[in-house]
Amino acid sequence: MSWSSRATQADVQRGLDAARRAGWWPKKALMFHDLEALEARLGALIAAFPSDAVHGIAIKANPLIELLRVVVQAGGGLEAASWEEVRCALAAGCPADRLVFDSPAKTDEELSEALRLGLWLNADHEGELERLAKLGAPSAARIGLRVNPAIGAGSIGHTSTVSRDSKFGELIERAPALVKRFPFISGLHVHTGSQGVGLALLEAAARATGEVVEALDLDWIDVGGGLPVRYTDGDPEPPNVQDWADALAKLPFWGRRTIVTELGRALHAGTGWAVSRVEAVKVIDGTPLYVVHLGADLLLRPVYRPEAWGHELFVLRPDGTPREGSQKAHVGGPLCFAGDIIARDRDLPPAEPGDLLVIRDTGAYTLSMWSRHCSRGLPPVVGIRGDTAVPLFAGERPDDVVRAWSLRG
Ligand SMILES: Cc1ncc(COP(=O)(O)O)c(C=O)c1O
Repeated sequence: MSWSSRATQADVQRGLDAARRAGWWPKKALMFHDLEALEARLGALIAAFPSDAVHGIAIKANPLIELLRVVVQAGGGLEAASWEEVRCALAAGCPADRLVFDSPAKTDEELSEALRLGLWLNADHEGELERLAKLGAPSAARIGLRVNPAIGAGSIGHTSTVSRDSKFGELIERAPALVKRFPFISGLHVHTGSQGVGLALLEAAARATGEVVEALDLDWIDVGGGLPVRYTDGDPEPPNVQDWADALAKLPFWGRRTIVTELGRALHAGTGWAVSRVEAVKVIDGTPLYVVHLGADLLLRPVYRPEAWGHELFVLRPDGTPREGSQKAHVGGPLCFAGDIIARDRDLPPAEPGDLLVIRDTGAYTLSMWSRHCSRGLPPVVGIRGDTAVPLFAGERPDDVVRAWSLRG
């Protein structure tokens, strides 16, 4: 797989064959992750940047510990947006000097533990810097300040983070005064947004932040994540990691300051896919509706904001071979609300109960956004290496869900 290629029907077929040989089959739903494709993307990222760069892959994109372990073993680091994600990173064996802690709401206890462990720690705002000062933050710590260069939003407002009204960071013009007041700050952090942000916006945010890093002679810059991906074959080809690195290489900090990156979606989205059994086929007002086991619980954004997010679908026979033909159909999830529709009036092959529906590009921001509505268990996940399937996640059985909701856990 190249940087921006997406799992094809052939990859899906290979995954299903490997899973079947290993004894897994989507009784309800099964998710897949191509581990070699993930490693290839991570390798391309590492190769495109200076050798001292730290690549904290965003755990929020996909927190499966076994997947984080693959990232760490292939030379990547991890970016944690909560203390729980820090714990996931440590469980996956991530060394402290490759672990970036970024939450906008950190407790004193989390801050002191992060200092003790020696994590990269991006403070979100002045109040957090004051608390770090009270906790005796040493100047040798890797403490950065998240800044907002206020240069405008991308095409998806909800995931854009450098418009003036963004909830994140301090406006960049405040950075010189804050660095003077809190001399333990050794770097600046900017994250432009996730999907909907093009190369120009990513570069502009890094340029604005880099200028302040240079002016204040700081040690490092964290340029965040945000490299967009394709969700349909019709989408324009997104910039690849080399395009991003080439754009950043023109900026003065390149080669002079340590660079930290925080990609998530671009590594994981296209390397994963989900398969659900088609449980029923109904006709609703003249249009077939395929009822499947994955809906708004897995695909929160596509279901609630279909104008901005969506996934391509394949229909396979029960043995995994592709169905032919085309008709307008809806695909409905299993949840008890009328809006739980993952595709409306989509051209799809006719399906029958027992068929398999494949949802492409579900490697990022799917399981990590799982909704407990209707208390369905998380689906299991398998990793694919060539023709071999390896378990990544057991999923949740009804007993696990009862335990999760129970007083005693
Ligand atoms: C601070 C931060 N860093 C990195 C990321 C990863 O972004 P992406 O997955 O689009 O690369 C996010 C996503 O929201 C983020 O909030």
